Amino acid sequence: MAELEAMIDYAKDSAALEQVRIKAVGKKGILTEYFSTLKSLPEEEKKTFAKSLNALRKSFEEHFSTKQKELEAQELESTLSAQRVDVSLFNLRSKQSIGHPVNYTKDKIIEYFTRMGYELCEGPLVEDDFHNFTALNLPEYHPARDMHDTFYFHDNKLLRTHTSPVQIRTMLAQKPPIKMICLGETFRRDYDLTHSPMFHQVEGLVVDRAGAVNFAHLKYILESFLRYMFGDVKVRFRSSFFPFTEPSAEVDISCVFCQGNGCRVCSHTGWLEVLGCGMVDDNVFRAVGYEDVSGYAFGMGVERLCMLSLGIGDLRSFFETDLRLLEQF
Ligand code: DAH
Repeated sequence: MAELEAMIDYAKDSAALEQVRIKAVGKKGILTEYFSTLKSLPEEEKKTFAKSLNALRKSFEEHFSTKQKELEAQELESTLSAQRVDVSLFNLRSKQSIGHPVNYTKDKIIEYFTRMGYELCEGPLVEDDFHNFTALNLPEYHPARDMHDTFYFHDNKLLRTHTSPVQIRTMLAQKPPIKMICLGETFRRDYDLTHSPMFHQVEGLVVDRAGAVNFAHLKYILESFLRYMFGDVKVRFRSSFFPFTEPSAEVDISCVFCQGNGCRVCSHTGWLEVLGCGMVDDNVFRAVGYEDVSGYAFGMGVERLCMLSLGIGDLRSFFETDLRLLEQF
């Protein structure tokens, strides 16, 4: 028995302790074998021998379970310290925060125009009918109002459908010469692959004395802006109509996906429409009380520029905060 207890004391881990248990009370264990000799003993010896065997087993079991608890505690302690997490440690694999592609495009646009001497102006998101439509030569019942899919409130208030009303606010608040851009949220009731109810536009306006600003200036600034945004692309001005400009043009760049050869994105035309522009219509100048001036204006969608410069197919994905998309930039 002293030998068994010594073996228990020397057991270094649960596995070694289990070997001792097998040696003592396993199928062929020492104590088991003593118990099996019981039946061959004469009746009177059997009782006393059984009594002392039971005492031995009890003492073994007590000794064993004390040691077992001790080893279990030790082993738990060592696994815990091996797996300890130092929460103060900097995780090198943690993700770095990154800019949203729309913000990246916004910053790039602002950088270009502010370097060219344009002042960055702002206007309210909740506009009124006068600034958003009437003063921009879109009187009540003008058919072009339909294209704007406007969100209306009471009292002629609405969510601005474009950034053009900031032209009106700037002209009313300042005197020419004016050279400004505005970049901000705009809203329309539209939702598909290339439209979302909230999107961003850039508006540009330059006003100076009569004859001081002409279409060539407009062409120069937009061509160099588009090359700054898209690299070596062809730029073409296509005659168009906007109520607030006359003459008006839409501007296309050669398709950035197929280099103008024709693909699905450019509907096999080789061209992508990127903005609208023109010389400010006299009716707009009249609405803000300007006389003897000339000016040009332009407007474009930030998400559209961003989709084209980064090759993103679905505009709605900008606003779904899906990290799988955002992490690519
Ligand atoms: N406001 C126009 C729109 O939302 C964009 C635009 C076109 C603005 C031509 C302009 C412009 O200033 O001259 O579609």
